[in-house]
Amino acid sequence: MRSRSTAELTPSETTRVRTLLDEAFEGRFTDALWRQALGGVHFFVEEDGVPISHASVVPRLLAVRDREINTGYVEAVGTRHRDRGKGLARRILAAAQRHIADTYDLGALHSVLPTFYEHLGWERWRGPTFVRTGSGLMRTETDDGCIHIWRVAASAALDLDDPISCEWRPGFVW
Ligand SMILES: CC(C)(COP(=O)(O)OP(=O)(O)OC[C@H]1O[C@@H](n2cnc3c(N)ncnc32)[C@H](O)[C@@H]1OP(=O)(O)O)[C@@H](O)C(=O)NCCC(=O)NCCS
Repeated sequence: MRSRSTAELTPSETTRVRTLLDEAFEGRFTDALWRQALGGVHFFVEEDGVPISHASVVPRLLAVRDREINTGYVEAVGTRHRDRGKGLARRILAAAQRHIADTYDLGALHSVLPTFYEHLGWERWRGPTFVRTGSGLMRTETDDGCIHIWRVAASAALDLDDPISCEWRPGFVW
C-alpha cells in the first residue's frame, strides 16, 4: 500500500495510475474524471511496481444546510479486473478513511453502485443535493441518492435528510 500526494507522484506513477483507471473503468474514465482525482492524496496497492487498486481523496467544501464542512472527497476508486474480489478496494478505502479522519471533518463521495460503499460503512445521503454557483444554489436532482458520507467525530450528528451542497467545479460537480 502506498500513499502519495499528487505532487509527490513520479511521472511514471502518474502514468501507471491513469492506465489502471482506464482499464478498471473500461474506457469510461475521462480526462474530466482524472482532473477531479488530482490535488489530494492517492492510495494505491502495487504488484511488481504496478498499481492494481487505487483511490484518491481530494479537499472539498460541502455544506449541510448553512454549515460548511471541510470534506475529504473520494475519487477514482478502481481495481484491476483480474484482481477484483480480493479485498483490495476495501483496504484502499480503509486507508482513505483513516486519512479523512485525521485531516477532515467529513468524508464523501459520489457513486451509482447500489451497495458497495454501504457494505464498507458509508451512508447514503437521503436529502436533496445542490451545487453552489455564482448565481446561487442550483438543484442537482440527478445526483440525489448517489452521495455517500463517512462520518468522523465532527460530523457525527449530521442528519442524512438535510439538504447538502458542494462548491461548483468543472466537469462533474458531484
Ligand atoms: C468497485 C471496485 C473498485 C471493487 O474493487 P475490489 O477490489 O474488487 O473490491 P473488494 O474486493 O475490496 O470488495 C469489497 C466488498 O465490496 C463488494 N463488491 C465488490 N465489487 C462490488 C460491486 N461492483 N458492487 C457491489 N459490491 C461490490 C465485495 O463483495 C466485497 O464485499 P465483502 O467484503 O462483504 O465480500 C471494482 O469492481 C472496480 O474497479 N469497478 C470498476 C470501477 C468502479 O465502478 N469504481 C467505483 C466507482 S464509484
